[in-house]
Amino acid sequence: MTTPTVNILALETSCDETSAAVVRNGRQVVSNVTSTQEAIHRRYGGIVPEVASREHLLTVVPVVEEAVEQAGGWEEISAIATVHGPGLAGSLLVGVNVCKALALARDLPLIGINHLEGHVYANWVIDRSTSQDQPPPEFPLLALIVSGGHSELVLMRDHGNYELVGQTRDDAAGEAFDKTARLLGLGYPGGPAIQKAAEAAAEQNDIVLPRAWLPGSDDFSFSGLKTAVLRLMSGQSDADASWIAAVAAEFQRSVVDVLVTKTVQAAQRLRVRSVALAGGVAANRPLREGLREALAIPFYCPPFWLCTDNAAMSASAAYYHFLQRDFASGDLDVQPGLRLAA
Ligand code: KG4
Ligand code: ZN
Repeated sequence: MTTPTVNILALETSCDETSAAVVRNGRQVVSNVTSTQEAIHRRYGGIVPEVASREHLLTVVPVVEEAVEQAGGWEEISAIATVHGPGLAGSLLVGVNVCKALALARDLPLIGINHLEGHVYANWVIDRSTSQDQPPPEFPLLALIVSGGHSELVLMRDHGNYELVGQTRDDAAGEAFDKTARLLGLGYPGGPAIQKAAEAAAEQNDIVLPRAWLPGSDDFSFSGLKTAVLRLMSGQSDADASWIAAVAAEFQRSVVDVLVTKTVQAAQRLRVRSVALAGGVAANRPLREGLREALAIPFYCPPFWLCTDNAAMSASAAYYHFLQRDFASGDLDVQPGLRLAA
């Protein structure tokens, strides 16, 4: 028996990317159109929520039209998925309202997606640049979700089944990268800027930053690290480019050490069959390589273009809701503080 074709159109406007994608049967990208606001927010050194929602309003219609056209038109679409949280309220409102209107006008089922769930499902999307067969991740799976707003270890026993294992007690990993980059004058977004500066650093240096191990817990803490960087800065009168690069490299080593060690320990204790990395910080090369080297079980991480916010990952997650007939009603609302698991 052949599987019926299900093409899901997803829209993602939770932060500063307006993205629409059509994904077939949860894994094949038919179209993925993203308009990024990065250059606009760079001027302010961070995301300005008011500006973000206004930009979404300007770009959302052409982005959706392009994604649907590339997929062969509305007749090809089986359902519409919208990210309704977590994220910026004004930004989420744009995507949710557009999707509600489209679902009503096109008489299509509506699916509500958690943004973090989307990040995890980036690991199910088949990368068009690799032709080989890519098997899906195996359950039980431990997901390390590290983005600008979240750092969580989540246990998945099956599709749609999420159990919180650990979380950050203060700053998210991406937030720590962004704040530290700002302190070091490396620009925005901080993650890629710190990674680039660290690549230029000398192999040996005497800078040592703390690691918050929080013994006996699967939680993380990154705010002390940022404070330690601030303290280093105030004691350094000659902060030249090579010193900044050395601090960036040690900062990155500290974040990666903690994330890798705690993820490996939790994976062993929980006896999971695989580990998946997700969220914008998943684009960090030392983190990807560190986990790949340290884990003795299958390790999944999305291709770079699927790490930061995009709608293809949400369309993938939506397929498994579709199979369960888990549809949202017309009164679906935005939930800026939506959690993935308790
Ligand atoms: O998932 P995402 O695009 O947006 C949120 O949902 O927050 O993640 C954005 C975060 C930013 O904090 C950014 O600095 C970080 O991901 N990021 C990185 C890298 N690329 C993006 N962090 C470390 N290394 C990178 N290469
Ligand atoms: Zn995200």
